[in-house]
This record gives sequence, C-alpha cells and structure tokens, in this order.
Amino acid sequence: MKKKWWMESFGYQIYIKSFYDTNSDGIGDLEGVYQKLDYLYELGVNLIWLVPFYQSPMDDNGYDVSDFYEVASEYGTLETFKKVLDKANKLNIRVIIDLILNHTSDEHYWFQESRKSLDNPYREYYIWEPPRIIDGQEYEPTNWSSFFGGSCWKKDEITGYYFMKIFSDKMPDLNWKSENVRKEMIKMAKWWLDMGISGFRIDAASHLARAPFVDSKMTKDRYVPDFSKYSNLPMVHEYLKMLDDEVFSKYDIMTVGEVGGGASVESGLRYASKDYGQLDMVFNFDHNWCTKKVNGKEVTDVIKLKYVFRKWIYGFKGKGWNPLYWLNHDHPRVMSMYGDLNYFEKSAKMLANTLYFVKGTPFIYQGEEIGMTNYPFTKLSEFRDVSTINHIKLDLKNQPGVTEAEAVKWHVEHSRDHARIPMQWNSLKNAGFTTGTPWINVHPNYKDINVESQMKDLNSIWHHYKNIINLKLHSKYREVLIYGDFEIVDYHNPHNFSYIRRLKDEAILVVNSFSNQNRRFMLSKLDGYEFGEIIFSNYQDSHISPKSIPLRPYEAVVLSLKLTK
Ligand code: NOJ
Repeated sequence: MKKKWWMESFGYQIYIKSFYDTNSDGIGDLEGVYQKLDYLYELGVNLIWLVPFYQSPMDDNGYDVSDFYEVASEYGTLETFKKVLDKANKLNIRVIIDLILNHTSDEHYWFQESRKSLDNPYREYYIWEPPRIIDGQEYEPTNWSSFFGGSCWKKDEITGYYFMKIFSDKMPDLNWKSENVRKEMIKMAKWWLDMGISGFRIDAASHLARAPFVDSKMTKDRYVPDFSKYSNLPMVHEYLKMLDDEVFSKYDIMTVGEVGGGASVESGLRYASKDYGQLDMVFNFDHNWCTKKVNGKEVTDVIKLKYVFRKWIYGFKGKGWNPLYWLNHDHPRVMSMYGDLNYFEKSAKMLANTLYFVKGTPFIYQGEEIGMTNYPFTKLSEFRDVSTINHIKLDLKNQPGVTEAEAVKWHVEHSRDHARIPMQWNSLKNAGFTTGTPWINVHPNYKDINVESQMKDLNSIWHHYKNIINLKLHSKYREVLIYGDFEIVDYHNPHNFSYIRRLKDEAILVVNSFSNQNRRFMLSKLDGYEFGEIIFSNYQDSHISPKSIPLRPYEAVVLSLKLTK
C-alpha cells in the first residue's frame, strides 16, 4: 500500500469536557487543550482527535449539535479553536475533529423549522412518519429500539408525526435521502477542512441509511434492538462515496469512521479498503468486550482477543489500514477490563505493548497513559451519561420491585462515564482538573494515579507510553514497526498474546503475558527464527534463554529475531 502520513501517526483522543478546565466552571475547555499541547508534545503523539466542540445543548455532551459553525460557549470560541490548531501545527501535531453526519440536536435551526408543519421546506431534512393505528391504538412507525433505550421514534406534538432518533430523544436523525442535507454536510465539512484540520473521525458513520419501515420480529421487549435496520446498509456506502468524491479526496487528510459492533471485516473493507473504500480507516468495537466468566469472575479472553485482531489485521492485509485503540469515550477503562489492579503498573504497560506494536495507527485515550481505572459508581445521581441514565431509569420503570442499587449494578460495567471522569493531572484538589466543582466526580484514586507523579518517575506507565511512541516513530525499528507484516504466533496459548512484525529481512517479536503466574514463551513456537536481542520490556531485567523466554506476571518483551531460513 502507498505510504501515508497518517500511517506514521500516533494519535491521542481528547474528551474536552473532562480534559482540563481553565476557567473554573468545572468543565474542560479548548483553552485547556491549548495549555496541555506541550504535555502532548512531550508524550510524543503527533495527532489529536478532538471530540465535538460545536454549539450544543449537551444532551449527549456535544454529539447533539445545534450549530455546526459555532463553538459551544462552555468550551470557548472559534478563536480559541484556531489557537489550538495553530499551536498544534507548530508542534507538528495534526488535529482531527468529529464529523457528525447522522443527526443534529432538536435545537438545531433545521429541526426547529422541520417540526413546524408538514410542508415546511426543512421537513425533508429529518425522518418523519405518521403514527400507526392498529385496532384504534396508536403505535410508533416501527417497533425498533434506539441505542440509548426505548423506541427509536419520538412523537412531536406539533404535527402529530414521529421523527426517528436512534440515539437520544434530543437527537433527531437526518434524512440522507435529501439532497439538501447532503449539500449542507458537504459545505460544512469543507468549511472545517479549509480551516486547516487534518481530517475527521466520522461519528456513527455506518448509520446513514434506513431499512424499509417494517417491524422486526417481536421479542419479549416492546422495542426490539434490531440495529441492522439502521446499520451498514448499502446506501451508506453511496453517501460516503459521494462525500469522498466531493470533499475528502480533495484534501490531504485522514478519515476514520466509527462503524461499531455490527460491521464485518467485509463491510469494513467496503468502507475503508484502498481499492473502493470511501474512508481511510474504520473503528470497530470487536475487541472491546473480549472477556469470559471463570469461577463467577469476568476475566480477559485472550484467545478471543487474538481472534479479533487476527480477523481484522489479516483481513485488511494489503487492502487497507486499521486504527488501534483500547478504548474511547464510550467504553470502560481498559485497565478495569483487561488489566490486573494487583499488578497495576506491569499490566498497564503490558496492555500498551500488546496493542501499539500491532500494525495500524494508534489512538491513546486520555488518561490511558497513566492507567486510569473505572469509577466506583453506586448511585444513579453520580452518572452523567444520557445513555446510562436512560437505561437505568427504564429498568426502574419497567421492572417492578427492582431497586436503584440493582439497576445501577446492571449498567455500571458498561457505562460510558468511566471514560469521562476528569483527567488526573496531579494530587491537588480535583486531581488538578478544575478549581471549580467538576461536572462529574473525580476518581478517588487520583492521589496515587496522576500525570505529575508519573512524569517524575522514569519507571512509570507514562514513561512506558512515551518510550513506545518513541520506538515506533523515531527509532531504527520505525519502518518494521509501522509497515511490517503482522503475524500472531502461539495462537492457541490462552496466556499470552504474541506476534511477529516482519519487513523483508527484519523481524521483531512482541511477547505479552496476560497471566499473573510465571510462564514461558517457547522458541519452538517460531518457525524460521532464533531469538535476537531484547529491545524493550516492562521489567528492567527481562532476559531470554536460547530456547525460551521466561515470563513473570504480565511481562511484555519486544525483541529482535534472527532469520534461520
Ligand atoms: C458515537 C459517539 O462516540 C457517542 O459518544 C455518541 O453518543 C453517538 N455516536 C451519537 O453521536
């Protein structure tokens, strides 16, 4: 494949609201991003993804946009954003932003107009359907559920019609069949690109088309979570292709689309293969939930994890490129999913090694570089995420006798708020995130886990991340670590995730133990190689013997290989 700048990038995702607050209102802001750019430069990343900072009533923290050309006042102004962009460019850090195509806020001018009457010129911008009357009873146009719980339709009293909304009630879905909608989106995307950004993370990219409005097969629930009715449908590719032709292909940018859990590798390739893809990469969610129950405890399913990576990285070989990420703002913290808090530092470093030497473009999620963990939520009032709150409230409403504590317990594990708690900068009040009252609780562990203390400790997780970035982007192994082929070895071993990166005669072995016991990686698992020298490790005294590598709990070793064939 042709080399591209974004294949040689190391990304970092910033959830602005929780990153750094500079005006003491308890909410992170763009000035905070600006002030922390030196920090990101020091870490070594050369690409940042900023989540939405458009004007928004913040029902879904900015994914509900009320004006695509304005900045949310709590985050700053367009001038502040330009300041961020300018400084980032000076530091050689590229900036990508979220492009939200599937929906707007119900407070957007288009929707305010659209709902006014059946013949309003903006009516066609959204998906409106009349109610269904069956035996004198009124029903939604279909029985499909939304991602955030309940029906994917909401009735609007003004005309008595239902509008479609696959996320929250305040996020009406745009109608991509409308040429005017498509034109508006082209105009808006160009406007941001002309300002100098380097591309987009395309929100909900796979949802732009709808199946015919026919009920899904009933389950015991009133609303059926049949997401296939609005995911990965053929027309989505047409719309994205049109955007590529009219916009993306005219700039030297990178686009990475969110295609979520429903996309197969084949459809991933339809979105993002070099031959007929419309995007450069797609984020899938397949590796986000690779756990299994053992003796009543949820543990990492290492084989499943390897299966997923094998599927996607092998599937894209020579045809496309993958992004690499452990979590984003919609997922729990990776340390609480796949890490071991009893071996906090070792397992955090091992997880970083496992992922970031795989072939692809890495995206660190804020706080991951210091091993931030899930928040111990116990009460409904502690949550801020519209999705978690909706689901808990629906359970309390629909399941008589259920207590709040029970409903919280069902949803806490998957809550998106774990990723959204404030960044832990130091051991001062509120982890140094704000001098005001934070919009969401700060994790009680911030005195132990914070940026300042880890930057001072050369052996910290933070320095491990910095070293990984340096190794991948600036060392003599750069080419093989970026462009080398990826091959999993010792596939059936449930305790380690090991692979080879190979470019011509150069080969690197990456061995990662997911076990809290002592194990060994056997040379016999390799065909045509001898061990070379250790390049990088999460223990200071890792060593190799001629026939094996002894692995202590969560040991992660990167070494060169000698070719014997
Ligand atoms: C995906 C985003 O990552 C998520 O945070 C948001 O709620 C939905 N898309 C809707 O925009």
